[in-house]
Amino acid sequence: MRHKQTLALLAASLLTCSSMSAQAQKGPEWLADAAFYQIYPSSYMDTDGDGIGDLPGITSKLDYIKSLGINALWLNPIFESGWFDGGYDIIDFYKVDPRFGTNTDLVNLVKEAHKRGIKVCLDLVAGHSSNKSEWFKQSAAGDRNDRYADYYIWSDSISQKDKHDIELRNQEADPQSSKRGAWVEAPNASRGKYYLKNYYICQPALNYGYANPNPNHPWEQSVDAPGPQAVRRELRNIMSFWFDKGVDGFRVDMAASLVKNDPDKKVTVKLWQEMRAWKDKYYPQCVLISEWSNPEVSIPAGFNIDFMIHIGTNVYCTLFFPRDTPWGKNKNYTECYFDPSGKGSNKTFFDNYSKAYNATCDKGYIALPSANHDFQRPNIGRRNTPDQLKVAMTFFLTMPGVPFIYYGDEIGMKYQPGLTPKEGSRERSGTRTPMQWTSGPTAGFSTCTPDKLYFPVDTEKGKITVAEEEKDKNSLLNYTRKLLQLRHSTPALNNNGKWQLVSQEGNVYPMVYTRSLNGVTYVVALNPSGRKAMTSIAHQGKATPQIVTGKANYKTGSKSDQLTLNAFSAAVYRINQ
Ligand code: NOJ
Repeated sequence: MRHKQTLALLAASLLTCSSMSAQAQKGPEWLADAAFYQIYPSSYMDTDGDGIGDLPGITSKLDYIKSLGINALWLNPIFESGWFDGGYDIIDFYKVDPRFGTNTDLVNLVKEAHKRGIKVCLDLVAGHSSNKSEWFKQSAAGDRNDRYADYYIWSDSISQKDKHDIELRNQEADPQSSKRGAWVEAPNASRGKYYLKNYYICQPALNYGYANPNPNHPWEQSVDAPGPQAVRRELRNIMSFWFDKGVDGFRVDMAASLVKNDPDKKVTVKLWQEMRAWKDKYYPQCVLISEWSNPEVSIPAGFNIDFMIHIGTNVYCTLFFPRDTPWGKNKNYTECYFDPSGKGSNKTFFDNYSKAYNATCDKGYIALPSANHDFQRPNIGRRNTPDQLKVAMTFFLTMPGVPFIYYGDEIGMKYQPGLTPKEGSRERSGTRTPMQWTSGPTAGFSTCTPDKLYFPVDTEKGKITVAEEEKDKNSLLNYTRKLLQLRHSTPALNNNGKWQLVSQEGNVYPMVYTRSLNGVTYVVALNPSGRKAMTSIAHQGKATPQIVTGKANYKTGSKSDQLTLNAFSAAVYRINQ
């Protein structure tokens, strides 16, 4: 008997231990209830009339942001930049770009955000700097003893294929904004004839070393070599510089790109595990969010949240990218699931997402954002009415993991096709247009004349503006608020509630899933198609609607329950067993 008791106690303590350590790996407690808002700072609110948004502009809108139910921000890069890639070509990692204000403006933004219970995360461009940065200039100058000599990857000889890539790139319409090729010619550098880039040519790769350096390639240093180790120290320094100013975390740009020739990412993972251990020791309340799009690798690497987006694992596109748009163009599916034609399938999403979710839900969070600065908004092409957008928003705000709303999606801002590229934006311009606050030529974003605007605005005759939607209790804006309120007040629907698809996967409408925690279950049903749709699911219980958009009916049976949803409808039910 005593033996049995001891065993039971041991089992219980093991359970607590494992759940405690899983909890610790998931990160600080605030993440369990976090709902993020992503701001592209150039486009949110301009207070000095130059047509470009700034930090005081964001600070002035914190009450609005809070009113949404948002409690965390991620800002795209705000550091001094060469502006050839929307701020991702950083000149000085320790200084706010003058177009946005000063470091003091950032400290003030953080202070004001914290007063309102809002966390502030910045963008950590870990893989590269601008070729205009002091680091790069000094490295290029060629003094081998210089502190920055090995901050970058230099070579005097490259392969024929690499040379050919350079030629092809030079023939492209805008070589600056070409992603082609790995090496860039550096005619004025004494350090080497070529440098390795990470993305655009203005973005030389920082040297974190190679996973398996080839002895015949002198530019391939080991990750333990002095240069790569100095770069790691610099990265930690950048993080602590901003953490010490009150910043709550970083979204890490191209997090998988740091260690070169690392096909299985083992050495990159080790690097991030080291960073995570360091962060947990000194800044346990801060978080790391990866742009990796492969949670099965990035979460064990130490990230608290990983985005599943347009890159990496095939999840996001099959749900949201219509075929006739820049992001859906070359994809091999009939239509995306959230297309009004109702010809989409959620099978690829289900297969990949559920695998990633099941493997990581105890250790970290997956984020399926409403959009971001690199791809389309939900309002694109034929998906353009408030009813359709409410169905999409229901998905974004009832999935597990940490929700991210891209600024303006809460009012249904439209992806603007065909805009002239700016600062390396390519087709991404249409997703970076100024926030639409009110009607009028600059949508209340700036006091400048419309020709000075960072990108043009189109409020659809004032309809798609915060001011208009505030007045309408059925607006997407107010619907978003309702969803976030329900999420925050309902543990089963919040970031840690379990998720399971209960409708069949494939070309099935509506899509139905459960969210549950501690014996409490909610059912979410979504019909993004333009036709009425009905499906049967395993019996759940009696269902009480919490939120409905459009028209939905839940019929409880003895063995199975039946859901019928009109075109463009969604519903969230609480189940009473
Ligand atoms: C990913 C960022 O999201 C994108 O905007 C940028 O162009 C590249 N990384 C390069 O930093």
